Amino acid sequence: MNDKTIRIGLFGLGTVGQGIFSVIRRARNAHAEIRRICVRNLDKPRGIEVDPALLTTRPEDILADPEIDLIVELIDDAEASYAIVTEALRRGIPVVSGNKAMIARHLPELIELQRKHGTALLYDASSCGSIPVIRNLEEYYDNDLLLEVKGILNGSTNYILSRVFDHGENYDDALARAQQLGFAESDPSRDIEGLDSLFKLIIITVHALGVYVKPEDIFTYGIANIHDSDIRYAREKRVKIKLVAQVVKVSEEQFTMFVMPEFVEKNRYIYSVDDEYNGVVIRGECYDRQFMFGKGAGSLPTASSILSDVMARRYGYRYEYRKMSYAGLPHYTTDITLRVYIRYSTTEVTRLLPLRAIYEVYTSTESSYVIADICLADLMKYRDLLTAPDIFMCNIPMFFKDDD
Ligand code: HSE
Repeated sequence: MNDKTIRIGLFGLGTVGQGIFSVIRRARNAHAEIRRICVRNLDKPRGIEVDPALLTTRPEDILADPEIDLIVELIDDAEASYAIVTEALRRGIPVVSGNKAMIARHLPELIELQRKHGTALLYDASSCGSIPVIRNLEEYYDNDLLLEVKGILNGSTNYILSRVFDHGENYDDALARAQQLGFAESDPSRDIEGLDSLFKLIIITVHALGVYVKPEDIFTYGIANIHDSDIRYAREKRVKIKLVAQVVKVSEEQFTMFVMPEFVEKNRYIYSVDDEYNGVVIRGECYDRQFMFGKGAGSLPTASSILSDVMARRYGYRYEYRKMSYAGLPHYTTDITLRVYIRYSTTEVTRLLPLRAIYEVYTSTESSYVIADICLADLMKYRDLLTAPDIFMCNIPMFFKDDD
């Protein structure tokens, strides 16, 4: 490691951009300096004091500056982020990014660009805020033993569910507070509908199993339709409802992945993961389970992860994506059976859905529910029906059920 100061060109000065600005100032051993900041609007009031001479609205002022060693890209707009990151990589400039939507959509191309131009893109901050999940999956879990990576990957929905479930708060108030606290996306439907968790799961899966799956091929169901009756049901059963993303090896040759609310029993690690915290359980053949826990959203926790990537660049760290070239990579499948709770009122769920086995049905004029098995591929097929406003669905976990 050398002590040469690393000169950063920063794109974006929003919640996380401001966080990295103040974290770099206080990190004594970072030997990093922000040399230029590209923003959309020079006059926008910000919560921090920044020398106006650092600010520019022209990306080229950073991209073409030969004195800049590293680009930190923290802009909200996924298309603008894609344009900047791909251009920087083409010019051989290493990039640290936190834009999970952009990375999840374009990862194969971004990997190719890194290879072709001999440079690096690091993005630990894109998944689970302050938890170093990507680098650990990439380096430590570089073996054939991984069976499952599962967890709470979205701080905002976990915050909302905790406030509603444990503190009896109103859903809309909890969402507004998650926005105020800087946890939620600028379009919070991304959090609520599970897309943010999905993007993180896609990135995690590349580093866990070496396989990339496109967002549209993965079943994603959020918490938008949760209702008091679901919370009452969960309380009666002594479980919590959490939004859970998971990638699971279902055989030597196959794995599956999906994002869904889940009934979480008290003996599970993620049961106690509340508020904006994230929790990731990594399961493997020889070590049973390991658990990573930490703040998954917010300015400073996410900035701490960006700083780790910045410091990693000081010794030339890059992801090697070794697993992607391993022989016999598992294939993605949606041909698996899940057990689900589906609450409904007007939609005739039991007639319209191809349920494989029904274990329990409760009917009343206000709200009914069914507990049944259904194929994941059928959940994909009937996605529109399942998002009807009178329906809410929860996964009842069956994988590794008796291992805890
Ligand atoms: N909106 C995201 C969340 C921010 O709530 O987890 C961190 O990725």
